[in-house]
Amino acid sequence: MKKILKLGIVGGGPGSWIGNIHRISSGIDGKYKICAGSFSRNVKTSSSFGSSLNLNKDRCYSNYKTMADRESEREDGIDVVAIMTPPGSHQIIAEYFIKKNFHVISDKPFASTYDQAKKLYSTIKKNKKIIYGLTHNYSAYPMVRMAKKLVKDGKIGNIEFVNVEYVQDWSNGIEVTKKNSKKIFRWKLDKNVVGSSAVLNEIGTHAYHLANYISGLKGSSLFADIKKFNKKINLDNNAQVLLNYENGAKGMFWTCISAKGGNYGLRIRIFGSKGSLEWVQNDPNYLRLNPSKGAVKILEKGFHEADFSKNFARVKSGHPEGYVDAFANIYNEVADHINSKDNKKIRYYPTAHEGLLTAKFIQTCIDSSRKKKWLKF
Ligand SMILES: NC(=O)c1ccc[n+]([C@@H]2O[C@H](COP(=O)([O-])OP(=O)(O)OC[C@H]3O[C@@H](n4cnc5c(N)ncnc54)[C@H](O)[C@@H]3O)[C@@H](O)[C@H]2O)c1
Repeated sequence: MKKILKLGIVGGGPGSWIGNIHRISSGIDGKYKICAGSFSRNVKTSSSFGSSLNLNKDRCYSNYKTMADRESEREDGIDVVAIMTPPGSHQIIAEYFIKKNFHVISDKPFASTYDQAKKLYSTIKKNKKIIYGLTHNYSAYPMVRMAKKLVKDGKIGNIEFVNVEYVQDWSNGIEVTKKNSKKIFRWKLDKNVVGSSAVLNEIGTHAYHLANYISGLKGSSLFADIKKFNKKINLDNNAQVLLNYENGAKGMFWTCISAKGGNYGLRIRIFGSKGSLEWVQNDPNYLRLNPSKGAVKILEKGFHEADFSKNFARVKSGHPEGYVDAFANIYNEVADHINSKDNKKIRYYPTAHEGLLTAKFIQTCIDSSRKKKWLKF
C-alpha cells in the first residue's frame, strides 16, 4: 500500500491568496495529510490558524526553521513541505528543508532572482534523496497536457511561431495612485519580497513556462521592453518580449498587471508547419486544433480524440474541471514520484530545472530592457 505523505506547510495563512488552493488540492486524491505548519510569521496567527485546521498546537510553528528542526527530530515528522510564502523567501525556506532531507513542493516563482535560483537549483541537484515539484499549475490542466502530446506527436508539424500572453488587472479597474498603491499591491512593491520584477515573477513566469512546456522548445535570444507604472510607483506593470527559440521559431510574449478588464487572461497559440493549437485558461476544458488544411477541431477534455487528457482528469467528459484540479495533479504526481522512484516513468509535473530556465529568461528580459538590446540566454 502506498504511504499517505505527511505534509507541512509554510505560508498560506488566513486571508492569503493561494493557501486555500494548496490545502484543498493536496487533499483531493487522499495522498497527503496536513500535519504541521508555519502559516504566518506571527506566533499567535500561525497557532490559531493551525488549530482551525485541527493541527496539534505543538506542530503549529512561528517560523520555518523551528518547524524544519523539530519535524526532523520527530518520529512522525513530515515527509514533504509545501511553500507558499511570497517569492523572496522561496529559496531560503526550500534550502533549509532540503538540507534536512524533506521533499519540497513550492509555489512559483522558483526563486525571486536568478542568483537565488542558481543557488537553489544547485542545492536541489546535490541532494539525491529529495523530490522537488514546482506549482506552475497551468501546465497541469488536462487539455494543456493534451496540447503537449499533440506537439510531441508531430500533429502540428515543426513549430514556427509561439504566441503567449498573461494579462491581469491587479487594481480591478481602480486608478492607481501613489497613495492607494501600497494597499493594492502590498509586498509586490518591495523588491526584496517580489524579487527582480513584479509582473514577470508573478504572472510572466507562468506564461513563459507554459510556452516551453507545451512546445518543448527553449528560448535562445530575446528583446524585452519592461515598463513601470510611473516614476512614483516603482512596480513593473507591463512586459513585451520578442523571442527566438533554439529551433528557429519566433515567439511573442506579453504580460501585464494593469490591463483594464483583463481578468486572468492566459492564452497561448502555437503555430507549426501543419497547423496550430490554441488554449485559453478561462475555457480550460477545450483546445482548438486548427489544421493548415481542413476544418477546425475543438477537442474536449476526456472526449474521443482528446482521450490522453483523461489521464489528468478526475471527472467524466462533459463536466468541467479547473484550477484546483490542475494544482491537485501536481500534488498527485509528486506523491507518486516520492512513493515510487521508478526512473523510467514519464513524469509531467514542473521541475526545478524548468524553474531555473524561467528565472534565467526573466533576468535576461530585465537586462535586455535596460540595455535596449537583443540578448542571448
Ligand atoms: N500558482 C498560482 O496560480 C499562484 C497564484 C497566486 C499566488 N501564487 C504565489 O504564491 C505565493 C504567495 O502568494 P499569495 O498571493 O498567496 O501571498 P499572500 O500575501 O496572500 O499570502 C502569503 C502568506 O504567507 C505568510 N508568510 C509570509 N512569510 C512567511 C514566513 N516566512 N513564514 C510563514 N508564513 C509566511 C503570510 O502571513 C501570508 O499568510 C507567491 O509566490 C505567489 O507568486 C501562485
